[in-house]
Amino acid sequence: MSFLVVSLLAVSLGVKADIVDEMTLEEKVDIVVGTATAWPNPPQPAPGTFANPPQPAHFPNTYQAQGRVQGAAGESMAIARLGIPSIVFTDGPAGVRIDPARPNDKRSYRATAFPIGTLVASSWDVQLAKAVGQGIGSEAREYGSDIMLCPGMNIMRNPLCGRNYEYYSEDPLLAGRIAAGMVEGIQSEGVGTSVKHFAVNNQETFRNGINAVVSERALRELYLRPFEVVVKEAKPWTVMSSYNKINGTYASENEWLLTKVLRDEWGFMGFVMTDWWGEHDAVRQMLAGNDMLMPGTPAQKQAIILAVKEGRLPMAVLDRNVRCIINAMRLMPSWRQYKYSNAPDVKGHEALARRTAAEAMVLLKNDGVLPLTKAVRRPALFGVASYDLIAGGSGSGYVYKRHKVSTFQGLQADAVKPWQPLANRYTAYVADEQKKMPAENFWYVPLVPEMNVDDDMIARSAREADVAIITIGRSSGEGADRQASQGDYLLSDLELSLLRRTSQAFHALGKKVVVVLNIGGVIDMLSWQHEADAILLAWQPGQEGGLSIADVLTGRVNPSGRLPMTFPLHYADVPSADNFPVTAAGAHSYAPASVVYAEDLFVGYCHYTSHQVPVAYPFGFGLSYTSFQYGSFTASVDTVRQRVCIEGTVANMGKVAGCEVVQVYVGSPQTVLYKPERELRGFAKTGAISPGAEQRVSFDIPLSDMASYDADAHRWICEAGTYKVMVGASCTDIRQTLAFALDKAYTFSNRQH
Ligand code: BGC
Repeated sequence: MSFLVVSLLAVSLGVKADIVDEMTLEEKVDIVVGTATAWPNPPQPAPGTFANPPQPAHFPNTYQAQGRVQGAAGESMAIARLGIPSIVFTDGPAGVRIDPARPNDKRSYRATAFPIGTLVASSWDVQLAKAVGQGIGSEAREYGSDIMLCPGMNIMRNPLCGRNYEYYSEDPLLAGRIAAGMVEGIQSEGVGTSVKHFAVNNQETFRNGINAVVSERALRELYLRPFEVVVKEAKPWTVMSSYNKINGTYASENEWLLTKVLRDEWGFMGFVMTDWWGEHDAVRQMLAGNDMLMPGTPAQKQAIILAVKEGRLPMAVLDRNVRCIINAMRLMPSWRQYKYSNAPDVKGHEALARRTAAEAMVLLKNDGVLPLTKAVRRPALFGVASYDLIAGGSGSGYVYKRHKVSTFQGLQADAVKPWQPLANRYTAYVADEQKKMPAENFWYVPLVPEMNVDDDMIARSAREADVAIITIGRSSGEGADRQASQGDYLLSDLELSLLRRTSQAFHALGKKVVVVLNIGGVIDMLSWQHEADAILLAWQPGQEGGLSIADVLTGRVNPSGRLPMTFPLHYADVPSADNFPVTAAGAHSYAPASVVYAEDLFVGYCHYTSHQVPVAYPFGFGLSYTSFQYGSFTASVDTVRQRVCIEGTVANMGKVAGCEVVQVYVGSPQTVLYKPERELRGFAKTGAISPGAEQRVSFDIPLSDMASYDADAHRWICEAGTYKVMVGASCTDIRQTLAFALDKAYTFSNRQH
């Protein structure tokens, strides 16, 4: 019996059916207005940047939480008279973020830092996402949390969004399916999720007030689509509305978004909470279906009470919102008086974190150097991040972890002995620099600046070591977007010089250069990739990252990650480059600005493939230590079931076992509506296929999932005509092209699931 059924049974046996009828107005308002635990003040944005963290000015107005779980993001109000407990909300997408220590308490409250969301999505493996969700969910439950404020699943509209590290993809299907796996995993542990940030929160700049101007079609097909998938497939208990405006209305005041689309069309049954201090008009938020205001202020409470008394807020609306919250609460550990242990299985999750990262890393280039053979076991390890791993990003998605394993340590654990003179220099430098760093704080993850290595040291290392491994590190986080400048999107002069000089020295002696990218978002590749013989995109791999990197470098794990977004050739090629983070007039002002989503549907690969723009690495791309051959695929339409069936086989042609990600792109007829030239309509990750063996993959895709939104007719349509089906290993590496035809158009008022 599922957890949900057990809980509902328990609830229906023990608790009165409608507690709401017994509540006073004040008690109802206590339910819809939450509390916060104490938050450290975020660092203020540097002058001239667009950073926009939550305003500390709000903090004193916030109710003080009962503080059941120190460092939780917030809590709801308990109502003792009615036996309603408070419920606890904790971040975030890569693991449980609570304070690591408590006064007069020797116990550690550290959690597992799993790989960042982007790395989990790079697995293209819904089951793996589910396993990570189970790990996170069980830690949350044992630390006393009721709701994990995750997954973060906004579309990666632009590579510079500071929170892309938390997010999954530029493609809505991939983002939605991975999020569904994560939600299923967490909720199967008896803890809820809050899928966020609903919706169109694709940047940090002016996030509290920016007005995203987007067509209804792009909203429905792209920006809302991942949320639709997760709501229909995984039934999250809660949704978090975003700070921004959409076409002039704040998301949290947007009845069309929160009631018509989310509930009436998609069937969402849980409750909606605001993002933290997403305070606007509390009454409008209530009317729109934003049930809970987090963390909540006395002013909001008074505004709601007054509005009810004056008849501006019908009691029925308040009751509706309270009921949504109470119904979901009944599933939660606190309601069940669950006795959490404060001792989650963090040790047991080390292996899961390690495996996830290793399986999901993306091998971008490999000119015969990886995996490192037994003869190549003395690498010269360059780059500060080789010694000081960047496990994840900053802001609410940060995790206070027990430890982190660097590549230097991970390789040694794998009997690979980094060349010592260079390692000594780096380790001493890193230790010195770390002493100057401020104390650990989730808002600010200090990075040791890159170290220069002189030519003599490089020449010696080229003579005495077997191979060079250079790690490029980047961090970003909540509150600020990244910059398209050197040291961020572009490599710094120091990084470029290190790469160039190392590659010259090693190549002159016939030795190879491997680059490991320990980054949270897309960077420039064009200016340096020719210096490298192999490039491993390790992303920010969580606390066990160095072990995972070693697993891939040595071939213990055959990487099977694929890019969940495009790496463009030039930042200027990004379709939103002219409209990010703001459009025109707002560019140099702190006043609320607008951002026009002028590229409409043409985000990421939909733009690059439709408009033949060359890229550095395409969406869906990733190498393996083996190679795969696609057997003859077929496509057929079942007009009765209104589904398209595509199937075929994949054979391993190489010498080691490996997993393939089979991707189905569809090009649809464009008689009524324009469309991207190809769109991802299905994907499947095979299990490990042994050399010489093959596996069958099949897709059963509802026609409604291939439909486009006709905003004039307010319906989804699959046009009549011939559909081109491209089965491939990336959006451009198409292995088989098939077709099917529809002799008439099919229209839908809603999508099937
Ligand atoms: C973030 C959310 C987070 C919340 C609570 C906000 O600043 O945008 O993603 O869940 O804080 O920590």
